[in-house]
Amino acid sequence: MHLRDWWHQQRQQCPALVAELDWLVRQVTGWDTLTLRTSEQPGQEFLPRLRSLWQQYLQTRVPLQYLVGTTPWRDMELQVAAGVLIPRPETELLVEVAVQWAQKWGLTTGPWVDLGVGSGAIALGLLREMPAIQVHGVDCSAIALQIAATNAENLGLKARLSLYQGDWFEPLAHLRGHLQGMVSNPPYIPTDLLPTLAAEVQHEPRLALDGGEDGLLHLRRLVQAAPAYLCAGGLWCVETMSGQTAAVVNLLQAQGGYQDIQTYRDWGGHDRIVCARWGGECSSIGQV
Ligand SMILES: C[S@@+](CC[C@H](N)C(=O)[O-])C[C@H]1O[C@@H](n2cnc3c(N)ncnc32)[C@H](O)[C@@H]1O
Repeated sequence: MHLRDWWHQQRQQCPALVAELDWLVRQVTGWDTLTLRTSEQPGQEFLPRLRSLWQQYLQTRVPLQYLVGTTPWRDMELQVAAGVLIPRPETELLVEVAVQWAQKWGLTTGPWVDLGVGSGAIALGLLREMPAIQVHGVDCSAIALQIAATNAENLGLKARLSLYQGDWFEPLAHLRGHLQGMVSNPPYIPTDLLPTLAAEVQHEPRLALDGGEDGLLHLRRLVQAAPAYLCAGGLWCVETMSGQTAAVVNLLQAQGGYQDIQTYRDWGGHDRIVCARWGGECSSIGQV
């Protein structure tokens, strides 16, 4: 059987999963749908692996990214595995926004932090865009840190990414008052919503998703703790769940020392990102 015939057959059998099928075929073969439709090559050599991965996916709903072991994200190919969140397309925008702010406010050199670094996606995206920064990545998950380290090594960025296991700012005492920027995509899904998420998401680590009762548990801590670590004028930039940005803006305003607070929508038009600059002097009031 030719690859094209198998692909057509699976599309007909699983019409609700054509995007997943196309993703898998592209990731395994490098062929996009145009190539699949027009190529003269039979592509039979790819079929055993494709059949096996597709069957596993249909039977278990383990995310295809875990089964394949990699995912494209921005201009990178990142390793992923069970135990680490699969970086999402909407998070690509966080890098874009953070770099724009960094350029506008002169924050393109010195130390940054990615809290909840996961696979390293955001940290590595920032490092590629801003060659004079150093990123400190923190995660409480040892598996995530291992994968972030592998991705940094594969991309030749290991020397500029320092990784720490710990609770948010807790391992970063040596950077108090010096951070040029803090980025984070913390767990922000309200606990009650977790069981309603797609079958694939149930295979991802709860630790990466669970934002407590109202989803804001970790975001609150990042608002309160960051002032002790950011330099005056340093960037505070997070991803939130759609519908949460107004609450995060309120938290920042209530803290009193943040300025230039701004929100952004993602590619799908959902409110998603909140940025601000720490306006006060380097302070010791923030607690981890
Ligand atoms: C939503 S994931 C984001 C992963 C990655 N930054 C991304 O955008 O794909 C949140 C990450 O925060 C980590 N995390 C959860 N609680 C934490 C804590 N208290 N301190 C540090 N990291 C934490 C999780 O292990 C997970 O890797």
